[in-house]
Amino acid sequence: MAERIFLETPSKINLHLAVGPLRQDGYHPIESIFVPIDYGDSLEFTRQAQAGSWHLKSNLDISSEKNIVTRAVLDFRRASGEDFGLSCVLKKTSPPGAGLGSGSANAAYSLLALNKMAKEPLSFKALLKIAAGLGSDVPFFLYTCAAWVQGRGEIIQPLSLPQHWAFVLLMPGLHNNTAALFAQLDALRQSSNWKPTKEDQKVLANGEQAKYWLSQPFRCWPFYNDFQSVLLQEGEENKNIYRQMLADLYTAGAGFAAVSGSGSTCFGVFSGKKEAERAKNQLLTRWKSVYIANTLARPAIAGLQ
Ligand code: C5P
Repeated sequence: MAERIFLETPSKINLHLAVGPLRQDGYHPIESIFVPIDYGDSLEFTRQAQAGSWHLKSNLDISSEKNIVTRAVLDFRRASGEDFGLSCVLKKTSPPGAGLGSGSANAAYSLLALNKMAKEPLSFKALLKIAAGLGSDVPFFLYTCAAWVQGRGEIIQPLSLPQHWAFVLLMPGLHNNTAALFAQLDALRQSSNWKPTKEDQKVLANGEQAKYWLSQPFRCWPFYNDFQSVLLQEGEENKNIYRQMLADLYTAGAGFAAVSGSGSTCFGVFSGKKEAERAKNQLLTRWKSVYIANTLARPAIAGLQ
């Protein structure tokens, strides 16, 4: 059994994020293009002598019990019956509440790491089941490849993206609460008598259409993020910040710019690294946290080999 495993965990951006009406189970159906990016955190698991022991050290300001890595470890132990002693060092770089899903990636990669350490007692299907219980975005990170994502995040259809694209991430330092933003979106829709129509789906109803649009020039993309209607609405405290971020990304040459997930990160898409570098330098004159990220085209499991 492996004694130690070190891995870098990714995050994601949503090139498109359509949110449907609230379901009976308290979740919303989504239709989204998820893109894994090479910006994230690191995890180091070390086997410990005392069976059942668990210790998490992290630079994140929440208790170990509340950390999703702890929940992943406990769920893995429950499902596999393995209870070898473990410690973990989690180094967070990606801020929580930023719409990048880095916590979900931490959880997914913890499951993969533990399964590997224990010589794979659980099938990929079993890992997917645990992942879905940990959070809506966790199953995606077990794949870590660009995907058309539906359901509440558990229906995943891989897409391929050009490797030369570069993404510029702009982080305003705001912590957004996903559940609260879903509720705000519902309230906004209720106040405007919103009814789900098939209008939007005419342009992007399935993964095949997502593939088609991805092959078109950035400026023709019909992609959007439903959370932007909440974040940019009149009266919203930080609306000017989001407006400014999106305007600045376009001014810096982005072919497409949007909020990722429920924010607060905005991203711009560029055709290559040079263009992204130029944009980053321009954006740094106004914004403090600007990063360049690239898409990842490998499944998470390969990353562990
Ligand atoms: O699944 P996760 O724990 O990440 O979701 C956090 C909250 O976000 C849920 O409790 C739910 O309120 C909301 N959510 C939703 N629809 C989704 C995903 C999340 O309403 N597809």
